[in-house]
Amino acid sequence: MAQRRFFVGGNWKMNGNKESLEELMSTLNTASLHEDTEVVCAAPSIYLDFARSGLDSRISVAAQNCYKVAKGAFTGEISPAMIKDCGADWVILGHSERRHVFGENDELIGQKVAHALESDLGVIACIGEKLEEREAGTTEEVIFAQTQVIAENVMDWEKVVLAYEPVWAIGTGKTATPEQAQEVHERLRAWFRANISEEVSDSLRIIYGGSVTAANCSELASQTDVDGFLVGGASLKPEFIDIINARA
Ligand code: PGA
Repeated sequence: MAQRRFFVGGNWKMNGNKESLEELMSTLNTASLHEDTEVVCAAPSIYLDFARSGLDSRISVAAQNCYKVAKGAFTGEISPAMIKDCGADWVILGHSERRHVFGENDELIGQKVAHALESDLGVIACIGEKLEEREAGTTEEVIFAQTQVIAENVMDWEKVVLAYEPVWAIGTGKTATPEQAQEVHERLRAWFRANISEEVSDSLRIIYGGSVTAANCSELASQTDVDGFLVGGASLKPEFIDIINARA
C-alpha cells in the first residue's frame, strides 16, 4: 500500500494584516515541524507574495481560489499562472465558503480544477455536506456527486489532495467525531477504488477540515483514512504547530 504523506493546510481565509501575519509566520518559521508532514499555508491573494517571502521554505504557500483561465478581462479574478508567479504551489478549490457564500457550482469548480492542474498547481479540492443533508441521510450522495465532478477534471491525481469538510463543522466549533470522519474518508476511498483505480484510492490523501484544534487533532489523525487536515481558525494561532505535529 502506498505511503501517504501527512498533509496539513492552514486556510487563513480573509484574516490578518501584514503585522499579524508576520508574527504568525515567524512563529511557524522557528517552530519544530514534523519532517514527515507537508505544510501549506493559504494566504489571501493580495498577500501571496508576502507569505512566500515571509515563510520558511519548509512551508508551501497556497491561494484560496482562482479563476478557470490564464488571463483576460475578468476583473477581480486571479489565475493559476499569477499564483505560480508569486511562488505559490497550491490552490484551494471548491471550499464551502466559495460554494455556499459565493454560489460557485460543481461545474465551475470542475473547470477551475482542470485549469489549475494544467497550470501545474497542486489542488486542495474541497467537498462536504450541509447539516440538513447529513440529517436527511444524503451525505454520501452529496459528497460522491461533488467528487465525481472533480474527478472528471483530473488527469493526474498526484497533484490533488481531497479535503472532506462537513459544512456544519466549519467555523462552528462542532468537529466531526474521529469515527464520523473515518467513516466518510473510508467510503470516499472505496469510491475511488470503484470509480477511478486501486492505485489512486491507495495513494490519494484525504484530509479532514472543520473545527480542527490542538485538542482534537491527535485522535482524528490516528484514524486510518485521515491523511491530514485543512485548518481555518486554528491556523492563525500558535496551536497550528501542534496540529502539524499531530502524528509526531
Ligand atoms: P475551521 O475552518 O477550522 O475554522 O472550521 C476550516 C476550513 O474552512 O477549511
